[in-house]
Amino acid sequence: MKTLKIGAIATGGRGLNAWQAHQPENGIEMVAGADISEEANKKFKEQFPNAETFSDYRDVLKIDDIGAVFISTPDYCHEEMAIAALEAGKAVYLEKPMAITIEGCDRILKTAMETGSKLFIGHNMRHFPVVLKMKEIIDSGMIGEVTCGWCRHFVGYGGDAYFRDWHSEQRYSNGLLLQKGAHDIDVMHWLMGSYTKFVVGMGMLSVYNRCGRRSEDTPGCAVWDESQYPPLTQTGFSPIIDVEDHNMIMMQLENGAQATYMQCHYTPDSERNYTFIGTEGRVENIADYGHCEVHVWTRRGSRQNPDVIYKLKPPAKNSSHGGADAPIVQNFLDFVRFGAKTNTSPIAARNSVATGVLGHYSMRNGCNRQDIPQLSKEIIEYFDNNQVKK
Ligand SMILES: NC(=O)c1ccc[n+]([C@@H]2O[C@H](COP(=O)([O-])OP(=O)(O)OC[C@H]3O[C@@H](n4cnc5c(N)ncnc54)[C@H](O)[C@@H]3O)[C@@H](O)[C@H]2O)c1
Repeated sequence: MKTLKIGAIATGGRGLNAWQAHQPENGIEMVAGADISEEANKKFKEQFPNAETFSDYRDVLKIDDIGAVFISTPDYCHEEMAIAALEAGKAVYLEKPMAITIEGCDRILKTAMETGSKLFIGHNMRHFPVVLKMKEIIDSGMIGEVTCGWCRHFVGYGGDAYFRDWHSEQRYSNGLLLQKGAHDIDVMHWLMGSYTKFVVGMGMLSVYNRCGRRSEDTPGCAVWDESQYPPLTQTGFSPIIDVEDHNMIMMQLENGAQATYMQCHYTPDSERNYTFIGTEGRVENIADYGHCEVHVWTRRGSRQNPDVIYKLKPPAKNSSHGGADAPIVQNFLDFVRFGAKTNTSPIAARNSVATGVLGHYSMRNGCNRQDIPQLSKEIIEYFDNNQVKK
């Protein structure tokens, strides 16, 4: 089989996820990378001495025999870079959120359909063992017809990661409901078997706006450090913070079910805690990484006594994000090379962005109902058919 040559757009930060796609023994080779950070390109070059590096991502797209690229740049770059890569005929692994506007997502979907270049969105939570276990339980019918879902998202590292750089500004991220919640909205849509029809949001910025700031000429930089607590003691935050540190949305799904998602960035601990309630029971995850449990209640009783407890061990293969990153990268490569089915879906990724964008709009404009704009039948059919034109 012909070698699949790949490129990394962003060699630093999340760009490291692409490194595991380099599998010369399986005919996949990393041949180029682009980043605006010289330091990131230097480290990339140390890892892949034969690869070319650039500061402009368009130089990667000019290399004809590159078949696929990973785009792991910040959210505000996604639309432009994904469209350019699809137009250059590359298969694209695009990080979540797909884009920071609904129109941006729709332009990416249209370009993918028109060019026939393959599009894959990096919603790695669809490979989290705990999410897969809850999906298996729901799909088995064990808790009956799922009519409601709730997610409480405790982001203990919010101040480390999202209020020091581009994430803190609406013009770059739109907001953290979208930035972080794109994952959770997608998981809820997937497990509940339906997309949001309309959304209502409420949110506020009430804690991190009171922290110490860096000067405008100091570059933004995430600082991961568990000693940065309690929240009001933190310093080095962005000069501009116009995103919320507390976000809540309520979602009416198309199939009649309802869901809520709540996200707080200054909790001492971190967890995504989901529960799905059906006509015959309830399922909930306890922890989301490493040693997790999934509890199921199928009879009346106390919360302390679930009827079934599944104990999940960390995956054997060492891989980031609870073991999800290796399988999602493999799923992308198998999709590109063999047309394999994917856990993720560009249509679903767009619908999670649409819910996040309009959830933000609602919370910033009187907390009113916002209807999700529908996609055309043609686009939905194309992606439902695994990106093969009928
Ligand atoms: N799926 C996940 O679990 C997961 C985890 C982390 C981040 N992400 C996503 O990955 C993306 C990047 O996040 P991050 O935290 O790594 O951000 P980041 O700010 O660390 O940027 C990533 C890299 O992109 C480079 N970059 C920035 N602008 C560029 C440009 N114009 N051209 C080329 N390179 C550029 C930066 O120098 C950096 O090396 C975001 O969209 C984020 O949502 C996903």
